[in-house]
Amino acid sequence: MPADQPYWQKLRKSVEKIAIDYNYQRIDLPILEFTELFERGTGESTDIVDKEMFKFKTRGKEDVCLRPEGTPSVVRAYLQHGMRSWPKPVKLSYSGPMYRYDRPQEGRYREFFQFGFEAIGEQDAILDAQMIQMAMQIFRKLKIKNVSLHLNSIGCNECRPSYNKLLISYLNNRKKSLCMDCKRRLKTNPLRVLDCKEEKCTQVVSQAPQTVDHLCDDCKSHFTSLLEYLDEIEIPYSLRPQLVRGLDYYTKTVFEFFAKDDEGAQAALGGGGRYDYLVEKLGGPNTPAVGFACGMDRLINVMKKNDINPYYPPKPKIYLAQLGDTAKKKSLKIFEELEKSGIMVAESFGRGNLRTQLSQANKLKAEIVLIIGQREALDGTVILKDMNSGGQETMPFNKTIKEVKKRLKKNAEMAKKLALQQAKKKDKQRKKSGNRKKKK
Ligand code: HAM
Repeated sequence: MPADQPYWQKLRKSVEKIAIDYNYQRIDLPILEFTELFERGTGESTDIVDKEMFKFKTRGKEDVCLRPEGTPSVVRAYLQHGMRSWPKPVKLSYSGPMYRYDRPQEGRYREFFQFGFEAIGEQDAILDAQMIQMAMQIFRKLKIKNVSLHLNSIGCNECRPSYNKLLISYLNNRKKSLCMDCKRRLKTNPLRVLDCKEEKCTQVVSQAPQTVDHLCDDCKSHFTSLLEYLDEIEIPYSLRPQLVRGLDYYTKTVFEFFAKDDEGAQAALGGGGRYDYLVEKLGGPNTPAVGFACGMDRLINVMKKNDINPYYPPKPKIYLAQLGDTAKKKSLKIFEELEKSGIMVAESFGRGNLRTQLSQANKLKAEIVLIIGQREALDGTVILKDMNSGGQETMPFNKTIKEVKKRLKKNAEMAKKLALQQAKKKDKQRKKSGNRKKKK
């Protein structure tokens, strides 16, 4: 809604700035994709694919769905549009609506917005660290403080199978104490039992073998490097052995960001990790990759709760008023001329009454009103009314733009001077009252 737009503007601007500064190119992904992309990419046993996709058949009997996330689409585009030949890593960023059929509640919507970053083609842990660094920079730009980073490594195809065996045998021995979903997960996706939020499952899981203790040498040194990079850039982290994330494609690094107040609640601000097999799974060559995405709606909820100033676009300081049919006809052209020369103008063209228009200008705190009546319209002049002094003068239209700019500049300088004087006055008063207190 319009009232929320300043927050969205601020968020979008911050994300765009980080994307430019870190050399991530924008990509726009289709909202509609073949269902198979997510079945193969995100994983059939995940909640997202199993329970939450908005899917349907087209008239041509194709299975399509509204995208529940962006990562598989980015990889599809990477393979389909020849990005394999680009210099590596291929760095891409995106944002837009995603769709998941879940029970709507605060921070969990069926249509929600994400921005995401993906780097394809590099296995070095420095990229994992850069992802985390970028997310933290965005939080910092938004003045969202106290974001905690939860971190884990869940291994690769080398070490995961033996860990899975260990986990399955541990969980099988405690099967009775697991929830229905986890009994099923035990067969389809045992790792997911680790991050079940059901109390009885969390109790079982708290003593379960941990992925980090069963990593192969490659995964271990990758994780150690990541921790060293994070130490170097002074980003604190909290190691979470139960963090596995709800999507199937992750290998090695997985991470999530939480606003500190909401810890414990199921409201991560964002999450991501490495997905070294996804490109291959979707038909490409063996290509490592890493990325993350954040929930924009959730970030905005946090900004609002913390009274963070959104972005307010500049407001027009000029108001264009017109009187009579001839003037009204000219006003569109005059508006265009002013806009082209970089002057922002407010108007209410539908209104013919000058008093109404002037009171509107007052409400909008316009500094100058340009009035065109019948006579002005005929002889190419404009009445320039200064709203501060109340004075007005008639001048040829071709001189107005220069004059308006001159006056706006003068007003801005005056306002700056006044603000400086007031700040000095306040400072003096503060010092005075400080001295008085000392004397006492
Ligand atoms: P995800 O954890 O499923 O990861 O979603 C990322 C973020 O989207 C979540 O942390 C949350 O803030 C937001 N989000 C998810 N579902 C909802 C919802 N129903 N309502 C509001 N916000 C929601 C992914 O989507 C991966 N593609 C991230 C990634 C990119 N991994 C590697 N690259």
